[in-house]
Amino acid sequence: METLISPSLLSANFIDLRSDIDMINRSEADWLHLDIMDGVFVPNISFGFPVIQAVAKECKKPLDVHLMIVHPEHYIKEVAATGAMMMNVHYEACTHLHRTIQEIHAAGMKAGVTLNPHTPVSVLEDIICDVDMVLLMSVNPGFGGQKFIPHSVEKTKRLRRLIDESGSKALIQIDGGVDDKSAPMLVEAGADVLVSGSYVFKAADPIATIHGLKHCK
Ligand code: DX5
Ligand code: ZN
Repeated sequence: METLISPSLLSANFIDLRSDIDMINRSEADWLHLDIMDGVFVPNISFGFPVIQAVAKECKKPLDVHLMIVHPEHYIKEVAATGAMMMNVHYEACTHLHRTIQEIHAAGMKAGVTLNPHTPVSVLEDIICDVDMVLLMSVNPGFGGQKFIPHSVEKTKRLRRLIDESGSKALIQIDGGVDDKSAPMLVEAGADVLVSGSYVFKAADPIATIHGLKHCK
């Protein structure tokens, strides 16, 4: 399968979002990744629904929403109303993950579950066949531009095995510190979708950078 690329809007130029969305529309990006932070689940606050709604009107790529918030189950209707394709919730934020996944599906979206760097993939054994994607954080969530945690490569391989052995169709997405060095290792380890923020948006030529990530192997 080809590698899917989901640039993270967190590193875009917020005073000129239209230019960055135009760039995404013209690029080989497959999705657009939107990071929602609440200052509670993670030590940072990003942007919320008014921004997602505005972006959704201009962006031609499917929206992949990553909720770094407590009680993401309270916002399923709001996320669905933006037209988002995928809603990612953190395993660590969901006491009743199975119910939340069912509710995301009932709202018409694909459902992703995200793991922090310290959370082992084994906790997914009994939910892996119900989710459309697993997002492995390869940095601690909350900020763009952090250093890639090398252990994420081994973790990706372990998740690949769990998915293949269970017969799950879940995609593997990796988020944090993805660049030209980490991307080939992650694809080799079995990643399907790469999120990339600062490496794409701070590049002199973001369109060429997205192309490079997509064809890194
Ligand atoms: C971090 C976010 C990421 C972030 C990645 O908490 O989930 O999506 O934007 O940024 P980079 O690619 O710069 O590590
Ligand atoms: Zn993210």
